[in-house]
Amino acid sequence: MSKDTIATVLERRSVRKYNPAHVPTEDLTIILEAGRQAPSAHNGQPWHFVAVRDPEVKKALGIACNNQIWIPHADVVIAGVGLPRLSERWFAIDVTIALQNMVLAATGLGYGTCWIGAFDEAKAKQVLGIPEELRLVALTAIGIAAERPAAKPRKPFAEIFSLDRFGAAIDLERRAVRTVR
Ligand SMILES: Cc1cc2nc3c(=O)[nH]c(=O)nc-3n(C[C@H](O)[C@H](O)[C@H](O)COP(=O)(O)O)c2cc1C
Repeated sequence: MSKDTIATVLERRSVRKYNPAHVPTEDLTIILEAGRQAPSAHNGQPWHFVAVRDPEVKKALGIACNNQIWIPHADVVIAGVGLPRLSERWFAIDVTIALQNMVLAATGLGYGTCWIGAFDEAKAKQVLGIPEELRLVALTAIGIAAERPAAKPRKPFAEIFSLDRFGAAIDLERRAVRTVR
């Protein structure tokens, strides 16, 4: 991973205020391509993505997403749709990875993004015309950020990582010394 990639991962924030300017089509194409290149179990690609730019559709989508009124202000909303018929076991994970690829590509290009997981699936599917047998996994907003949110707190390192066995204290420095000897 290049330093630029790491910086992109670390600088990402959930942005919920956007300027009305558009994401140029060439940038949106790069962002979508980043999703298309995502890994998936057995390369099954059990996914479809709806890039929503129509203001009326975005407005209806915001309502279907538990009345999140900020959603239509983002220039694009990408809906990640799973195809269970291709992979009942992996579709949710595969769609999620592809969406996160798009989130990071958009961040790297300087755009704001925000995951959207709060929605009424039946209503959102109706708004987007998604066939009954498919699943709406999650969405992300993408647009020109009008805010620079502070970093949200994260759990302490030692609380969420273990070394070798679950719950064993993680001390990577000590481990490195032991490995060298
Ligand atoms: C699966 C998922 C669903 C989310 N759903 C929403 C949502 O519906 N609305 C929203 O405003 N933020 C949503 N978020 C954003 C989280 O609130 C946010 O990632 C978290 O507070 C950490 O802040 P950060 O993204 O700025 O680091 C979601 C994030 C994830 C990963």
